[in-house]
Amino acid sequence: MPVVTKAVIPSAGRGTRFLPATKAQPKEMLPIVDTPTIQFVVEEAVASGIRDILIITGKDKRSIEDHFDRSVDLEMHLERSNKQDDLHDIRKLAELANIHYIRQGSQKGLGHAILRARDHVGNEPFCVLLGDTIIDAPTPCTSQLLKAFADLDGPVIGLAKVAKEKVSRYGIISGEEIAPRTYSLSDLVEKPSIEQAPSDLAVGGRYVLTPDIFDYLAKTKPGKNDEIQLTDALRLQCRDRAMYGYNYEGVRYDIGNRVDYVLTQIEFALRRPDLKEGLAPYLRKIVDSL
Ligand code: G1P
Repeated sequence: MPVVTKAVIPSAGRGTRFLPATKAQPKEMLPIVDTPTIQFVVEEAVASGIRDILIITGKDKRSIEDHFDRSVDLEMHLERSNKQDDLHDIRKLAELANIHYIRQGSQKGLGHAILRARDHVGNEPFCVLLGDTIIDAPTPCTSQLLKAFADLDGPVIGLAKVAKEKVSRYGIISGEEIAPRTYSLSDLVEKPSIEQAPSDLAVGGRYVLTPDIFDYLAKTKPGKNDEIQLTDALRLQCRDRAMYGYNYEGVRYDIGNRVDYVLTQIEFALRRPDLKEGLAPYLRKIVDSL
């Protein structure tokens, strides 16, 4: 299997589940404490050995580009105020990876966004990391999938088990477990009803794809919500070649929904000793009063 050197991070969705916060700013920039969600995602790609990252953006997404760019004014200000730690973090951000940007043009769905990466990716396998999903794992999730990809002969979809009542929020797979955590896929369906869901294994926001996916995307018709769905293209691809799922180790935080977003804030804040001290007694008080 060829070495994977590129990652695509689609971040062009409207974020309507998060209005009004997303009226004039991308949902991928919503912070978890003080770090924008997309920074966690880029850091995961980098920690998995990927340096070439293409972010698919759109209207009102300029702040993503600014975030990963140099800010000479800010650096000078921090230098003058002798804020060395902040200066170091800000500089590091701009050197994280080679980040490229392309605009989606019209917002026709996740599949359409990925198709925009075709020229940049070329004829190589590549990773996809959804810009609104953080995965906290002992080994970066994308590393886990790349390892599975190196051992298998086909695309690998990162899977996460979900509660039955939540299947209609996700792409759901059917397949057979062929090794621990590893599934041979027979089908995928985007956001099925509980009755129609073939399993409780959801497409979990991370993928290692092969370049033939672009041909399938090009012929995929609008599906759920009248959008071109990546899951529908994978479904077509699955009829023609062996494809795999890997139930990755780690906890998935889906920043695209409000409850998970708040839970993520609390969990990540409690992990920081400087914040835990103030937050824990307050949370205990609230819990006691419930
Ligand atoms: C997208 C995918 C879906 C996947 C989900 C994971 O849906 O279409 O298959 O399960 O991400 O977060 P979205 O959340 O963009 O509606």
